[in-house]
Amino acid sequence: MSTVVLGVGGGIAAYKAAEILRRFSESGHRVRVVPTAAALKFVGAPTWEALSGQPVSTDVFTSVPEVPHVAIGQGADLVVVAPATADLLAKAAHGLADDLLTNTLLTARCPVVMAPAMHTEMWEHPATQANVATLRSRGVVVLEPAVGRLTGKDSGKGRLPEPADVVEAALAVLERGETTPADLADVRVLVSAGGTREYLDPVRYLGNRSSGRQGMAIAQAAVARGAKVTLVAANVSVPVPAGVDVVRVETTAELHDAMLERAGSADVVVMAAAPADFRPASVATAKIKKDDAGSVPDITLVQNPDILRDLVQERGDSASPVIVGFAAETGDATAGVLEHARAKLARKGCDYLVVNDVSEGKAFDRPENEVVVLGRDGSATEIPFGPKITVAHAIWDTVGQRADKG
Ligand code: CTP
Repeated sequence: MSTVVLGVGGGIAAYKAAEILRRFSESGHRVRVVPTAAALKFVGAPTWEALSGQPVSTDVFTSVPEVPHVAIGQGADLVVVAPATADLLAKAAHGLADDLLTNTLLTARCPVVMAPAMHTEMWEHPATQANVATLRSRGVVVLEPAVGRLTGKDSGKGRLPEPADVVEAALAVLERGETTPADLADVRVLVSAGGTREYLDPVRYLGNRSSGRQGMAIAQAAVARGAKVTLVAANVSVPVPAGVDVVRVETTAELHDAMLERAGSADVVVMAAAPADFRPASVATAKIKKDDAGSVPDITLVQNPDILRDLVQERGDSASPVIVGFAAETGDATAGVLEHARAKLARKGCDYLVVNDVSEGKAFDRPENEVVVLGRDGSATEIPFGPKITVAHAIWDTVGQRADKG
């Protein structure tokens, strides 16, 4: 049983922390809630005490003989602050310690996850962004806020991610906490995931079976290791992990533009999506009708851009970003899987190619994977069969070392 300290900031989303607390308790963790005084204006101490079975105070002058301002932080295996207000982020970034929670943040030596929630303007303010960057550079995992309805009529970026997603992200950090420090702190990661759709008319498309699971896991693992992650998601069929910035696209052309637009400000780019290589030469503006004569439309395909190759070309001679491609390969009479993959790595010009052997009809959309990471330097790292999140961490163990912080 681990001890989770749940810091609650004074924002309207404080009520969601009750659900976060319940979920931590139900997954077998001891939870100590440390709200700020402002948080208690939104949800009262009895709620936290009843749900956690632990005393609750906000200042350092309660139960002084137990020295709580030191003991709570020292005894924690994980500190989660949700919601983290702009004020709390500022205090944490500057090491202020004027209440029990900020003291706890200074004494904790365990992983710290902060889930910000505030209005878009406050989140985007250079002061807040600088504070977030400072915290990330120290290894604090600061989740990206979700986009959606805010207090009142507003909507935009700044929403607390769903409680279940905050807990999942935090538990992933706890799990990795002992073995991996936040080694991607401050690293800007751009990941694509899913499969593109190429429309024939407003309702029909050519698609593929990619679920986006491995790309999502790559994004989730990067968040857990402290990175600032942007995920370009093409028609994914699994939920997007908490703490990432999401850009949704449908077609290869959209994916191409979304990736090229953002790659310049990324330190690592991972092309885990399955873009269609071909698209219909023209898209009918109205639904294509069938007739009684049994005729079928002629569909001419044209080639789509190769996004990975364009990313490499755009980078030119610069060492950044590190570019990682994926390849599902089969062996044939001319060469084995790894030989084909090596040739593809050279053709595409990326730094790493994560190779999936799909020879034996291995199915798509499965929760596990098994890959080899080929490096441009000739390296080959075998990652054994396991859950996609474990494989994702192993991929970061390999490619993360090359990432230069921007
Ligand atoms: N890829 C891309 N743009 C495309 C097609 C693929 O960026 N139009 C990327 C994928 O995201 C992946 C890598 O290229 O990271 C390899 O994908 P794959 O389909 O194996 O490459 P292809 O060049 O299409 O090779 P093949 O001829 O074997 O299909």
